[in-house]
Amino acid sequence: MAIPSSEAAQDQSLAMPSLNLTINGRSFTLNADPNMPILWALRDILGLTGTKYGCGAGLCGACTVHVDGQPVRACLTSLSQVQGKQLTTIEGLSNQKLKNAWAEHNVPQCGYCQAGQLMSAAALVTQHPKPSAEQIDAAMSGNLCRCGTYPRIKAALQSYAKQEG
Ligand code: FES
Ligand code: FES
Repeated sequence: MAIPSSEAAQDQSLAMPSLNLTINGRSFTLNADPNMPILWALRDILGLTGTKYGCGAGLCGACTVHVDGQPVRACLTSLSQVQGKQLTTIEGLSNQKLKNAWAEHNVPQCGYCQAGQLMSAAALVTQHPKPSAEQIDAAMSGNLCRCGTYPRIKAALQSYAKQEG
């Protein structure tokens, strides 16, 4: 197999389209394949490593981010799909009350799934500030936790709901 010369590799990267992204309220321009999953771009190009790579197949929720406020799987969403949209990662999550509820209930164990859990929870409480037990179960069911922190996640969301009066 021919190995591309550095000049050819440079030509290839120059040939990549220029993509404009808005992430956590900041504008970025990337020369990248529009089909690249945003998870790769966030972690490997932009250094936003708070969003985790779990299964890479849309099954675990570790990579959950928001696109225009909706939770999506960053491993299954391409750069072209977020053009002109607002992308929010765990680094830009502004719901301090939710983070406080997480801390008060000592939710994380190993922590690996927690960015995705928080992003799904934040989308839930934006839509339903006082979520019912059923709404919590439905919204959080796609986020897996190998450490079994589910009862603490539910308790944190229920105490958040109580604070909402
Ligand atoms: S890494 Fe995206 S859903 Fe598992
Ligand atoms: S806290 Fe360890 S996987 Fe969820």
